[in-house]
Amino acid sequence: MGVKTVLKAIGAAMLILLLIDVVAVFWAMDQVEKKMAHKFQFPPLNISEKMKTADRETGRRIVMIRNRCPECHGEDLGGKTFMKGAALGTFSGGNITPYELGKKSDEDVARAVYYGIRPDGTPLIFMPSVEYHNLALEDVAAVVAYLRGVPAVARPNGEIRIALAGKLFSVAGKAPMIFSAEMISPSAVPVVKPPEVISVAFGKYLVVSSCAGCHGERLEGGTIEGGDPSWPPASNLRTEKLGAWREEDFIKAMRTGLTPEMKITREPMLGLIEYGKQMNDMELRAMWSYLSTL
Ligand code: HEC
Ligand code: HEC
Repeated sequence: MGVKTVLKAIGAAMLILLLIDVVAVFWAMDQVEKKMAHKFQFPPLNISEKMKTADRETGRRIVMIRNRCPECHGEDLGGKTFMKGAALGTFSGGNITPYELGKKSDEDVARAVYYGIRPDGTPLIFMPSVEYHNLALEDVAAVVAYLRGVPAVARPNGEIRIALAGKLFSVAGKAPMIFSAEMISPSAVPVVKPPEVISVAFGKYLVVSSCAGCHGERLEGGTIEGGDPSWPPASNLRTEKLGAWREEDFIKAMRTGLTPEMKITREPMLGLIEYGKQMNDMELRAMWSYLSTL
């Protein structure tokens, strides 16, 4: 075989590989378009019943402290670009003050939080409802009641753009947080809310809806899917790892970022300390009573 023939063969092979790539890219883009247009059929929440007794102060603690909505929606809840030009894309939490939500019904807002969908049933992008689906409906109503009462902030919504890598990851099932609604089962029975007291049950309720997203369903830690590549793996929060900790060690770690091993937790956990500081003793002690049973 002459050199020319070999080069031609290599050229042809490369062309074929390139074509396969192009086809894969177009296929992924088309799949993501389909995901974005998919209309989820979730059961109605009939939230207006629960709105009658919704407690705004509980709503405030969920929004501003326990479930950290400002991380993505901004300190004033007027919206924020929380990921810009990352491999997965650019993502902004919308304006969730009455400026935007005033146009929506309580049921619409509750469905956005609980199911991660828009009023027409299509999925919200990068809204972590798979965690908030673990809130009881009375707490979802408390969130809606709180959001109705915050000052309106006149700020238009920021950019949302899924980058090519984000699309490929999403289609491969490697970036589940992009379409949280896909991970929610329409037949799941709503969680019953345990009383807000120091108990394993209330601790579990808090941990499942606010820590499991990073630390994993079994709280064993590991790589945070779709997280920033510079983040360390999430720690194991089970007694295998935290068995030697006492309750006060946990509370101190959550409020200062300093562990009993004299380590300072790194990002993204470090950023959560701002919220940990605002958690009250009851919340932290309840979480610890649950974690120390694992
Ligand atoms: C990881 C980031 C993130 C966190 C944390 C987060 N959100 Fe969102 N949320 C988003 C993004 C992004 C959107 C916009 C999605 C879109 O338009 O496709 C959104 C949309 C919404 C919407 C729909 C807005 C509209 O205009 O209809 C509501 C309501 C909402 N979020 C409430 C909340 C509440 C309440 C919390 C806390 C319990 C919260 N979010 C926490 C990212 C987040
Ligand atoms: C955004 C992702 C994220 C969320 C949400 C999160 N964590 Fe973490 N957490 C981490 C990472 C990553 C580490 C490891 C940090 C390090 O190695 O420096 C960590 C470390 C910790 C540690 C230190 C453990 C050790 O090994 O010393 C504790 C305790 C902890 N998290 C508790 C919690 C609790 C309780 C919640 C819920 C209220 C929570 N975390 C929510 C990502 C997260």
